[in-house]
Amino acid sequence: MGPGGTAGIGSVAVHTFTTNRNAPKMTAHQSTNGPGSTGAADDYEEDFGDGKFYDPDAEYEPDPEYAATIAPDAARQRRERIGPTGRPLPYFPIPGPVGERGPAKIIAMCNQKGGVGKTTSAINLGAALAEYGRRVLLVDFDPQGALSVGLGVNPMELELTVYNLLMERGLAPDEVLLKTAVAGMDLLPSNIDLSAAEVQLVSEVARESSLQRALQPLLPDYDFVVIDCQPSLGLLTVNALTAAHKVIVPLECEFFALRGVALLTETIEKVQERLNPNLHLDGILATMYDSRTVHSREVLARVVEAFDENVYHTVIGRTVRFPETTVAGEPITTYASNSVGAAAYRQLAREVLARCHAE
Ligand SMILES: Nc1ncnc2c1ncn2[C@@H]1O[C@H](COP(=O)(O)OP(=O)(O)OP(=O)(O)O)[C@@H](O)[C@H]1O
Ligand SMILES: [Mg+2]
Repeated sequence: MGPGGTAGIGSVAVHTFTTNRNAPKMTAHQSTNGPGSTGAADDYEEDFGDGKFYDPDAEYEPDPEYAATIAPDAARQRRERIGPTGRPLPYFPIPGPVGERGPAKIIAMCNQKGGVGKTTSAINLGAALAEYGRRVLLVDFDPQGALSVGLGVNPMELELTVYNLLMERGLAPDEVLLKTAVAGMDLLPSNIDLSAAEVQLVSEVARESSLQRALQPLLPDYDFVVIDCQPSLGLLTVNALTAAHKVIVPLECEFFALRGVALLTETIEKVQERLNPNLHLDGILATMYDSRTVHSREVLARVVEAFDENVYHTVIGRTVRFPETTVAGEPITTYASNSVGAAAYRQLAREVLARCHAE
């Protein structure tokens, strides 16, 4: 790191100070990802006197103690490996082989706000878990069928979908299941037919637990079921929450991200109380994060302030690779296996597994 330059430490850009050898004063300014920090103003000025000047010509890293004086966070962040959420980043071990199969843990990918990365996260978390040897069932529970499209399935051509599984008792799940190109990952696809279920289920007995019933026979065959919810808190989403053990809430790192989250957590609590005491919020997943913008860093800081340990340490960066994968009809873990995006979803899979083991 050269004098006056910028070094990235995780998401944090730390500007080293510049100083004049003859001047007794030196200035350190630092741009952190903390809320309200613009990086424009100097954080403090200090007179170090007694010849302790930073030598701009010397080729060395400032000694740690000294660096701690001029940029306390930078040194701490290096030492403690602070992650993009501003907390020390734990080590998530590579998962070992699975012991006994099933019954599957069911994860609902849920946020009533549209376009926050639910489908992208369902596909890529599923694919990453499958890479780690877990048997995964993805459930497309959105009549738009985006998850099916994202795995190369044309929803218009489907004769049987998750809709039939919900509405027709006696239909074997095998008749609806599709294998995906990812080894160990299957799909219950969906198409526009599912929109009728929202209306038809209203008059059913135990209308909130139709999906739970439909999934029951499949659970012994899988380690994880990931349900991709539609952007609403209607009856379909309530069905997903009633079936699930865990909820993951993807949250786009932009200005209105937190709007509506209170309503979502209220809905989760209601389902917990009335329908599914086993349900809990596994984590909030920050998506489309751009560490280069103050805005993105501020939003993430607010989210961490509001939800603390409920925010996953793993943060998904914004990259055009994700829209590309939809066109390609495959997960990023196979489409761009060495990309940052693929690495992020692998880390999320390890973090989700670590949270499972901690239970
Ligand atoms: N990390 C990312 N970086 C850049 N683009 C992304 C990222 N994640 C998702 N996208 C893109 O953003 C768009 C919305 O993502 P996605 O479909 O996963 O959201 P969603 O919450 O499922 O939307 P909906 O509410 O409509 O179901 C897609 O075009 C997707 O490719
Ligand atoms: Mg979606």
